[in-house]
Amino acid sequence: MTAHYQSHGDVAVITLDNPPVNGLGLSTRQGIVAALEQANADAAIRAVVLTGAGKAFSGGADIREFGSPKALQDPNLLSVILALENFAKPIVAAIHSVCMGGGLELALGAHYRVAAPGCKVALPEVKLGLIPGAGGTQRLPRVLGVEAALNMIVSGEAVNSEMLAQVPGQKLFDKLAASAESLMDEALAFARSVADVRPLPLVRNLPAKHPQGDAYFQFARNMVKGMSKNFPAPAKCVDAVEAATKKKFADGMAFEREIFINLMWTSECRALRHLFVAERAASKIPDVPEDTPKRNIQSVAVIGAGTMGGGISMNFLNAGIPVKMLEMKQEALDRGIATIRKNYEAQVKKGKLKQDKYEQRMALLSTTLDYADLKDADLVIEAVFEEIGVKQKVFEALDAVMKPGAILASNTSTLDVNKIANFTKRPQDVVGLHFFSPANVMKLLEVVRGDATAKDVLATVMSVAKKIKKTAVVSGVCDGFIGNRMVEQYVRQGGFLLDEGCTPEQVDKAIEKFGFAMGPFRMGDLAGNDIGWAIRKRRAIEHPDMKYSKTADLLCEKGRYGQKTGAGWYDYVPGKRDAIPNAEVIQMIEDHRKSLGITPRKVSDEEIVQRLVFSLVNEAAHILEEGIANKASDIDVVYIFGYGFPVHRGGPLKYADEVGLFNVAQAMKRFAQNPLDDAAFWQPAPLLARLAAEGKTFN
Ligand code: NAI
Repeated sequence: MTAHYQSHGDVAVITLDNPPVNGLGLSTRQGIVAALEQANADAAIRAVVLTGAGKAFSGGADIREFGSPKALQDPNLLSVILALENFAKPIVAAIHSVCMGGGLELALGAHYRVAAPGCKVALPEVKLGLIPGAGGTQRLPRVLGVEAALNMIVSGEAVNSEMLAQVPGQKLFDKLAASAESLMDEALAFARSVADVRPLPLVRNLPAKHPQGDAYFQFARNMVKGMSKNFPAPAKCVDAVEAATKKKFADGMAFEREIFINLMWTSECRALRHLFVAERAASKIPDVPEDTPKRNIQSVAVIGAGTMGGGISMNFLNAGIPVKMLEMKQEALDRGIATIRKNYEAQVKKGKLKQDKYEQRMALLSTTLDYADLKDADLVIEAVFEEIGVKQKVFEALDAVMKPGAILASNTSTLDVNKIANFTKRPQDVVGLHFFSPANVMKLLEVVRGDATAKDVLATVMSVAKKIKKTAVVSGVCDGFIGNRMVEQYVRQGGFLLDEGCTPEQVDKAIEKFGFAMGPFRMGDLAGNDIGWAIRKRRAIEHPDMKYSKTADLLCEKGRYGQKTGAGWYDYVPGKRDAIPNAEVIQMIEDHRKSLGITPRKVSDEEIVQRLVFSLVNEAAHILEEGIANKASDIDVVYIFGYGFPVHRGGPLKYADEVGLFNVAQAMKRFAQNPLDDAAFWQPAPLLARLAAEGKTFN
């Protein structure tokens, strides 16, 4: 059992002990109930303190039980909370560090609560597409007031215990301890002070009311409209809290339960739970044990102070790690520093960064034109021009100066990391760190594992990624790695759709309605159409038989590179990002179509979405089968965090699982019949075909 009993004279202490965050799994729930029985049976015990060992009071449900029957097995959380409420002797929850979800609901079942300062308190269920399901929506408004409680429930965000203790009239905490260290002593003293109180106070007996009543809930519903667009849960939070103010406690509990169970079965909830687990699983590499010793990274060097080098540097400065940037010319360094300053100053202006923090960060940044100055860096990241010859020069120079054991990383987005590693005499120390633009904002980091990359290098960069708040996914070496290899197929489908009769706007609108942040043509305009053009020129040499629409090349020949030239697939007004359709571009597409002898047809939005999304799925299946990605969920993480795939759909492979792989494979076979498309590409990848035939899923 993962909850322990100990008596401290006349007070029993029940300690949740289920690392890492005292999740309320079955064995913890059983432990609490058994400990309560022991406290009940001992006549010398006058009160009970309930607390958590280690780094948390409780983080809530045990994610390892997600989706398993264990989660609901008795004693379930509702019955444990009931056992607390009905206990004959006072129970004091001693809350510290983290008190979230089911952990907070459990504490609300205790008769009293003493909190340590600095404790993070939250009901984060909405982030998993749910509402709190063990009384949180009914009890929190009773102790915190309707408005403060609803804000917490709808946002899912953590609030500090000191802040909560200041909410006027709050009954969440009976006492705020002086410090985390004194919490237990204060809780024990508090328990003794209330040992004889009868009847015992219960949160359920407190009133829940809002002075503006219906008008307030109308306002709250309007407030959550935006966040409810793709998710049912936020609006349901409002319904449940409203029920706390209007229904009897027991009826409110039943109402909450019904909503909770219904949400559990929605695809949005499945998607969010999948991503929650997937994001945590991404840091695990099958053949690199978690206890692999890591190299010490205390200083970083960045080669190239351009778009990526600047953004990459900011990540480390933000984490308090010193950075030295190297360039070929002083002007380039000056430009790079000026851009970093501009970014930070914008944050200061918006009130997101304090002036002294900004100065502290800049003080960690130094520059050089001389490789010899980098020799002591623990990690060096190269972000120079995307040309293999330039990379060769840089890596040879680094090999000559860097101390033994330093990690040499490349931010290349398309080049062969094995080749780059072999420019050095230490390929085991070389790895790809593929950041996404803007590198100081985007959460995704593809860690590219070369054939020779040492395991401790991988373990180290995964932990560095965490330190700089990135979600890292490991990719093997191939052209485009995971994300860009997939996006290429997606963009290629976009081109075919133009040839067949669509406009860029129709394609973009259809996929944006599906939930993508941006369609392929708006994305091209943002990233710069010339980048894809350069890649296609290289491909034309490497794979002369590759079939693709020539419209994008024609566009680039007109100099329409995208937002940076004020014109791409769309027109742009300077300083604005609104995409305005352009008649000349439409004419260009029509002329090209005519030159190919194609009669345009009306393509449905459904077909547009399927072709774009299933092209990602088929390429992903190849990537998975080739071992470029370690697991299906890693691919979903890449696409959600790096490419704007709709979160409520859980990633391309999760979405394919929801559609059903049989249906996905059937659609691919249909697309293969289209003479204007690429029949060879649409043969379902062997892994996909196998899973579909066996009625299985990717995830
Ligand atoms: P950029 O052109 O903005 O910056 C490159 C910088 O490297 C320039 O400031 C240049 O002066 C400097 N440089 C060139 N050769 C050098 C050398 N031998 N020694 C020292 N400095 C040198 O390019 P960007 O966009 O920052 O790209 C850099 C790398 O990052 C490329 O490998 C690119 O493929 C990759 N990348 C780019 C992304 C993007 O969206 N821009 C996304 C992910 C990766």
